[in-house]
Amino acid sequence: MHRYYDHLSHVIGHRGACGHCPENTTSSLRKAKSLGCTWVEIDVCLTSDGLPVIFHDDTLNRCTNGEGLMLKSHSSTILELDAGGWFSPEYSGEKILTLEQVIHEIIALDVNLNLEIKSHLGWEPETVAAVARVLNEKWPSDKPLIISSFLPEILEEARIHLPQFPRGLNIDVIPTNWLERLSEIDAGSLHFYEPFADPAKIEALKRAGYKVMCFTVNNPSRAQELYEMGVDSVFCDYPERMITGQ
Ligand code: G3P
Ligand code: MG
Repeated sequence: MHRYYDHLSHVIGHRGACGHCPENTTSSLRKAKSLGCTWVEIDVCLTSDGLPVIFHDDTLNRCTNGEGLMLKSHSSTILELDAGGWFSPEYSGEKILTLEQVIHEIIALDVNLNLEIKSHLGWEPETVAAVARVLNEKWPSDKPLIISSFLPEILEEARIHLPQFPRGLNIDVIPTNWLERLSEIDAGSLHFYEPFADPAKIEALKRAGYKVMCFTVNNPSRAQELYEMGVDSVFCDYPERMITGQ
């Protein structure tokens, strides 16, 4: 088990604290910290000119005042967009962060990071190479970071270009052949979709020495059931619900 998993907390702020603030932005990260998070999860993907930016969707439509595909949009446009006004007028003017900017913010907040790498199919090597260039230069050695992805090819590339970080496989349903899938990419954790919690499989994963994480859990009593099944951490949009029971 990679030593970074020793630091894992029971609650990970999802896209920062995206129930309270526009997801994946500075305000969302700061909110997660203020609510007691010691870990946050954010998504990274590429612009057309290969800049890694912190953004969840393939398209700009839902979370910015722009439109079209992120991967077909130049960073000069992306970095000018309003990524907060869609959530509430209070946040208008909030910008999309670059990976480099978010690293500075995460260091300043003194939280640990689960970086989920998103990619279009076919662009996995380019995506990881660009992310790795930034992480290898800017991420402090010995600061805990877990790389995760729904795409096994991303994790295979991360194993090559970012071997110092543990890898988590995101998946909806815990597959029957989970051991084979995790072994293939030498992953240390499996992150599954909450409706598909399967106590027997979670127990087997734990017995095999894996960390098990679950997205997205906003109900504290459901989180308690999952912890009792052996789940180590839940991704939460409202982290204060789990941390302080508010
Ligand atoms: O990494 C856990 C979770 O964020 C995966 O789903 O769609 O919220 O990125 P999504
Ligand atoms: Mg995510």
